[in-house]
Amino acid sequence: MVHSTCYTKHHLLISMDKLIVEGGYKLSGTVNISGSKNASLPILAASILTDEPVRISRVPDVSDTNYMIQILSQLGASVERSSGTVRIESPDGISSSASYDQVRKMRASICLLGPIMARMHRCTLPLPGGCVIGDRPVDLHVRAIQALGARVRIKGGNLVMEAPNGLIGTTVDMRGDSGPTVLGTDNLMMAAVLAKGTTIIESAAREPEVVDLANFLNKMGARIEGAGSRTITIHGVEKLHGCEHTVIPDRIEAGTFMVAAAMVSDGLQINRVCRKHIQAMADLLVECGHVVEFDEEGTSVFVKPGERPRSGKILTAPYPGYPTDMQAQMTALFALTPGISVVKDTIFPQRFMHCSELKRMGANIKVDNGTAIITGVEGLSGAPVMASDLRASAALVLAALAAEGTTEIHRLYHIDRGYEMLDEKLMMLGARVQRVLDTDARNIED
Ligand code: EPU
Repeated sequence: MVHSTCYTKHHLLISMDKLIVEGGYKLSGTVNISGSKNASLPILAASILTDEPVRISRVPDVSDTNYMIQILSQLGASVERSSGTVRIESPDGISSSASYDQVRKMRASICLLGPIMARMHRCTLPLPGGCVIGDRPVDLHVRAIQALGARVRIKGGNLVMEAPNGLIGTTVDMRGDSGPTVLGTDNLMMAAVLAKGTTIIESAAREPEVVDLANFLNKMGARIEGAGSRTITIHGVEKLHGCEHTVIPDRIEAGTFMVAAAMVSDGLQINRVCRKHIQAMADLLVECGHVVEFDEEGTSVFVKPGERPRSGKILTAPYPGYPTDMQAQMTALFALTPGISVVKDTIFPQRFMHCSELKRMGANIKVDNGTAIITGVEGLSGAPVMASDLRASAALVLAALAAEGTTEIHRLYHIDRGYEMLDEKLMMLGARVQRVLDTDARNIED
């Protein structure tokens, strides 16, 4: 196995690898889906809510979970990781402030806000900046913590929060202009578990990752009801204890392999999935003429290309709607599907960086005002391309697998943030992919 990242005492070095993909080889066989990155991140953060050990299994070995583990260590927790299981113990006296150096690498570190406030009643967290997929404000996170009685100010680029007498439960409406917020709901839930009294979250995010976090917190002794619905009720408790938890399967990794199967395979068996979590993606593939068959338990799905693929439409929406994290991958499929397809991202309207790279491979895509209009072409051709964010990179890998000739995908570290051993898994399915050191990387980064 090739590791994407390596640790030094204080820094996580970014991998300078690129992926060379020889296109046109059909995938076949079986693939196992890893644990969810987006469920793991808040669950790892929530581990500091107790001084007792917690044991979390199926945490994917990706750089985002590595960043989170490194921040937890810097806060003073002891962390051990082996074979997908992470054991964390956070003694009294852990720090209430995280360093900018760590937080700037991963926007999701904002989900430390809730647990640090709940445990320490104060928190200094550098404000995460925007990122390539959009502005990414944190106003709803701040509003939530203020509603629980914390004083919040911004100083030196940090959010500085204090609630000397502890947090106090109340009713908070978490709906923003673009709908509910996933990590905002997580933060409020984590802050409220140790608050005095009852907190009611209105317009809560319903994503499976929120439900997994609530299940984890309840195993620690929290009293949370209604996770997965629009209203979550949290009865504050005095103390939480250690527990064991297994993270849910990564629905976006599953969706990515489903799209790969529909684009360039003789049929793929995709194991360790949860049918309910990937139903919107399965429905769209079926609408577009592809074959999708679940087993009886809904934990395994077989996908193969349909005989007459059809164009389709995506309007991204909060769960159970079509996820924004899966629109780039479907755009790669639409690029090779006869007819005109339309992708509108209502959650991150700027999330179309992959389109210009797909066009360099021969795709016909116009992007305007948060919408991509894709006219299917007969074939794509390999080219050197640049990954820009996690899901955009996944779209480029899928396009490269289906393209004629060789594609070089630079800035592979974007993929390493969220896909566990993607190159290894693809190789096992018969893809010709090779991860190599990108000797041009420095010039490209400049
Ligand atoms: N928003 C606000 N104010 C806030 C927070 C969010 O206006 O304070 C807006 C956002 O700008 C966006 C919408 O609300 O328009 C929803 O964003 P959300 O807060 O739900 O995003 P998030 O919680 O920061 C998580 C995932 C993202 C995924 C989004 C949407 C994690 C670690 N990240 O982010 O995953 O796209 O939910 O489902 O769970 C990815 O994995 O590639 C990824 C980007």
